[in-house]
Amino acid sequence: MSQTTESWGSRVGLILAMAGNAVGLGNFLRFPVQAVQNGGGTFIIPYLVSFLLMGIPLLWVEWAMGRFGGRYGDHSTPFILDNMTKRRFWKYFGVFGIFTNMGVMAYYTYIESWTLTYTIKSLKGDFLGLDLAQLDIFFNNYVDLGSGINFPVWAILAFLVTLTINIYILSRGLSAGIETVAKIAMPLLILFGAFLAIMSWTTGSTGRCDDCSTFIGLNFLWEPDFTTLANPKIWLAAAGQIFFTLSVGMGTIHCYSSYLKQKDDIALNAMAAGWMNGFVEIVLGSAVVIPIAVGYLGLDWVIENAGFMMAFKTMPFLFDQWGSVIAVISGVAWFGLLFFAGITSSLAMGTPFMGFVQDEFNWSKNKSAIILGVSILAMGLPTILFFEKGVFDEYDYWTGTVSLVVFALAEVILFAWVFGMDKGWAEINDGADMKVPKIYRPIIKYVTPLFIGTILFTSLIKPLNGELSDWSTAWNSLLSGNGWPWAKDSIINKVFHLDTGVIWWENDVLTDMFYIDMSRYFLLTCFFVLVAMVKAASNKRKKRAL
Ligand code: TRP
Ligand code: TRP
Repeated sequence: MSQTTESWGSRVGLILAMAGNAVGLGNFLRFPVQAVQNGGGTFIIPYLVSFLLMGIPLLWVEWAMGRFGGRYGDHSTPFILDNMTKRRFWKYFGVFGIFTNMGVMAYYTYIESWTLTYTIKSLKGDFLGLDLAQLDIFFNNYVDLGSGINFPVWAILAFLVTLTINIYILSRGLSAGIETVAKIAMPLLILFGAFLAIMSWTTGSTGRCDDCSTFIGLNFLWEPDFTTLANPKIWLAAAGQIFFTLSVGMGTIHCYSSYLKQKDDIALNAMAAGWMNGFVEIVLGSAVVIPIAVGYLGLDWVIENAGFMMAFKTMPFLFDQWGSVIAVISGVAWFGLLFFAGITSSLAMGTPFMGFVQDEFNWSKNKSAIILGVSILAMGLPTILFFEKGVFDEYDYWTGTVSLVVFALAEVILFAWVFGMDKGWAEINDGADMKVPKIYRPIIKYVTPLFIGTILFTSLIKPLNGELSDWSTAWNSLLSGNGWPWAKDSIINKVFHLDTGVIWWENDVLTDMFYIDMSRYFLLTCFFVLVAMVKAASNKRKKRAL
């Protein structure tokens, strides 16, 4: 409930900002690595199915919810949800739509700061002539891995600079800040990506080893292999990637969409942003890291070493093989691209909090931005200082993976079953510049909630290793009284440490588990601070209504 004057400047700007929210590090780092770790070409089929049955429906639902909320002056999920139902508890589900963004922003801005550092280093030619071992050392020194709790001074400085840039742009507002950045960053990103893709496609065979060819890399990512399609592990990974890459289930799309005008199209705009993300991910994202690495190091090396650190520890070495001039250009294009992809996403993550405090507490843009900045700094520092203890991954697990699924399930049930599919369908089609296929009505009502529910259930109790055969092994073990063999990363095992027990210190030193559990309680505390803020806002509204 605010008298906001914020709105999008133009349709192109809106689509670029929405696409910028979706296109991020996930497209260039997470996607190719997930594909390699999940059978290469096999990954693409569950990925596309998840996109059609879950990604697209969620895009429409979130755009519709956002524009609906904007009509009542609400720009963050707690009160967008609150307006769709009479029941009061839904607004507390909406807390996820602010919390997730801040939690992800904390560690995401940190990776973003690496890309900034690496862009500058590439421009200065600092990586020329370094081999893989030297790049590894450079990276480890930079983040101070494995050296106890030293202060990684440069990493913290770069993080501060990156955060300050983000906060400054956010303080400028939607149109003057975010939209302007998206209009510059997105075209440049596509340009840099196309340059690297063409370099990759034209490299072909390098003769470094028997299978050293970029085509073998591309083929590995593209050739579908139907035999492993029945593997639930691959389905979970594919659905998780769809969530992360489209930025659904997190509240940012609602926030962006709430600044639309009532008659603005959402059906076609949502498609445009969604497919642009898909293009960048499947065409550009799979053209760079994996094929180029296969071209010089071979497929076996890549399968063994695939990880998102490859972007930093491997790519500069590979660019070097093209000669020092192209190496500098490629390095700047690659890390610059990652920086642009990152910043258009981290800005989006900042907006739900901005919208919430401006609406509810009438804070100015500057005040909102500064308080957001201080909060993200506080939340980000543990991921930097205790990076090697696994705190970074812990944030990614809870805020970048689990909470997206929980919130998406809640919102789709609210939309299709509480708000009601009649009203919901009318919302999606209102002002639409395209005909939304009718088949999506039953999909949104039945298929999408079931799909997400299955993912959540499966992630809760995933058995050790998670392959199809492990499920029957697990049931047999349970039935014969030997208990359920939990996968390390099943949600229940993560919470209770059932496989190892809780070990907080060993030989008089605190274990990694201690740091991980503390960071988990810290995140939980942040969640409840937001709950308290929503409660305060709600009381304020009641008083005003009397
Ligand atoms: N979609 C972005 C990417 O691909 C990441 C992202 C943006 C995100 N907003 C998010 C992830 C919110 C989780 C939650 O990199
Ligand atoms: N968990 C991811 C993986 O193992 C890594 C990751 C987390 C990541 N967050 C990210 C990669 C954001 C890129 C961008 O692949």
